[in-house]
Amino acid sequence: MRVLAISGSLRQDSHNTRLLRAAADALPSGSQLELWHGLGELPFYNEEIDVQGEDEHPAVRELREAVRSADALLIATPEYNSSIPGVLKNGLDWASRPYAESVLRNKPAAVVGASTGSFGAVWAQAEVRKVLAASGSEVLDEEFPLGSADDAFAADGLLVDPDLTERLGEVIARLVALAENSALVVAA
Ligand SMILES: Cc1cc2nc3c(=O)[nH]c(=O)nc-3n(C[C@H](O)[C@H](O)[C@H](O)COP(=O)(O)O)c2cc1C
Repeated sequence: MRVLAISGSLRQDSHNTRLLRAAADALPSGSQLELWHGLGELPFYNEEIDVQGEDEHPAVRELREAVRSADALLIATPEYNSSIPGVLKNGLDWASRPYAESVLRNKPAAVVGASTGSFGAVWAQAEVRKVLAASGSEVLDEEFPLGSADDAFAADGLLVDPDLTERLGEVIARLVALAENSALVVAA
């Protein structure tokens, strides 16, 4: 089982990227979490440059290939002004085309989020789930809001709060189960 993890923050010291690393610890053995770092290399979405084949932008090809080859997608989103960071929305827009056969279609996905305030990016998570659902992904309803992110991580990168660690584990387990189930449906 290969889970592709994308952080909606380009920041070196991002809490959301850190949250994805903590999520890797919750994966069952035999599963791997691969962090994709290419969001900042993508051009702004423009239908005129959205072409297939040799002329496809290399960063776009890399994104689509990474999503296509993953069994599941895990996104950690910050909240910017009560919504999704533009860089993440741009990546999702690229991944969502061509619409009928996009790499997001039927892709099992889960969304988590961290913010420095108390609410843990719940609005941004809801919007990312909406975008994924509109793109045909199989999105978990669960949210994982990590508030007060400045104080949430221990020196080893794991979450300080055992309840939150357990909750993150539950979300990851649900995502893995969804992906396993979806693989069975595809194979049948
Ligand atoms: C442009 C901007 C807008 C923000 N808007 C919100 C917001 O609406 N709600 C919120 O909880 N935090 C907001 N924040 C604070 C972020 O939660 C905080 O910067 C967080 O650490 C970003 O995630 P990162 O650590 O993964 O980069 C905003 C930050 C920036 C830079």
